[in-house]
Amino acid sequence: MYPLIRNRRLRTNEAIRRLVRETIISPDDFLVPLFVVEGNSIKEEIPSMPNYFRLSLDNLEKEVKELWNLGLCSVLLFVKVPDNLKDNAGTEAVSDNGLMQLAIKTVKSACPDMLVMTDVALDPYSAYGHDGIVAIGQILNDETVEVLAEMSVSHAKAGADFVAPSDMMDGRILSIREALDDEGYINTGIMSYSAKYASAFYGPFRDALDSAPVDIQNVPKDKKTYQMDYANRFEAIKETQQDIDEGADIVMVKPGLCYLDIVREIKNEVEVPVAVYQVSGEYAMVKAAAEKGWLDHDAVMMEQLTAIKRAGANIIASYFAKDVVKLLNK
Ligand code: PBG
Repeated sequence: MYPLIRNRRLRTNEAIRRLVRETIISPDDFLVPLFVVEGNSIKEEIPSMPNYFRLSLDNLEKEVKELWNLGLCSVLLFVKVPDNLKDNAGTEAVSDNGLMQLAIKTVKSACPDMLVMTDVALDPYSAYGHDGIVAIGQILNDETVEVLAEMSVSHAKAGADFVAPSDMMDGRILSIREALDDEGYINTGIMSYSAKYASAFYGPFRDALDSAPVDIQNVPKDKKTYQMDYANRFEAIKETQQDIDEGADIVMVKPGLCYLDIVREIKNEVEVPVAVYQVSGEYAMVKAAAEKGWLDHDAVMMEQLTAIKRAGANIIASYFAKDVVKLLNK
């Protein structure tokens, strides 16, 4: 008795495997996160993110031109703010001459067709390392949302195509949408970090921006009162649905790899594009294991990104974007 159905026929050689392959990674899938710092001629490697750099505006200009030539046409901007400009009100975040606003203009003048998305949250600007305004023992919601709306308008004014609120305050999408519309920025989009979990995988990112919550009395030491509990599933759907109702054009799940069940569930529920953020800790793990010779860097990178896309990601924010495109071009 031999099997009648032989599934292995479709795996016989690379040609047939290519013919029946369901998920293919391309440069169009990627949103490239970039870290911007004050100063000149700065390109500093982030210790916990090998081969990833903080860039001053002159190097940002060079970087986006290189990305564009590689076929990567969307970036997500973050800024590292010096300590003396941090406070508990997001003053620097809403300044029209702030580093973010200058970074947006730099990218747009270097590469006018590059899609520019900006992170909207107070943590890089916060003396306490929180995404919102801190009061005794808590992070204030509604007061924070007002600043985020003002911040979003200031990014739109500088030329951002999309704002990407990553703060997880309640009601921020509606307030941002209304503020943008009131100021005439009806075509500025919102990519909401809708299902963002309180994750230990953000560690290297907080090194990159020096934005970790500080350890002082009366300030919560983690982000668990606003970012989601990683044990939960239902609230991811609820948060996402709510953001769509409030006007989000794109929704996001974050982190990536540990949350692909959530990605698929959301993908099955919603009719807007779903983004996935493969975060700094996910990048760092692969780099570290590869440096030790314990994993094959490129093979693991492609397997992880393909899995993210297979799970339902229409857009992938990833520090591997450039590595992938270089590999695809080989
Ligand atoms: C800021 C923000 C964070 C990330 C993106 N936007 C950090 C955090 O919430 O603490 C993490 C990205 C990464 O780890 O790569 N609100």
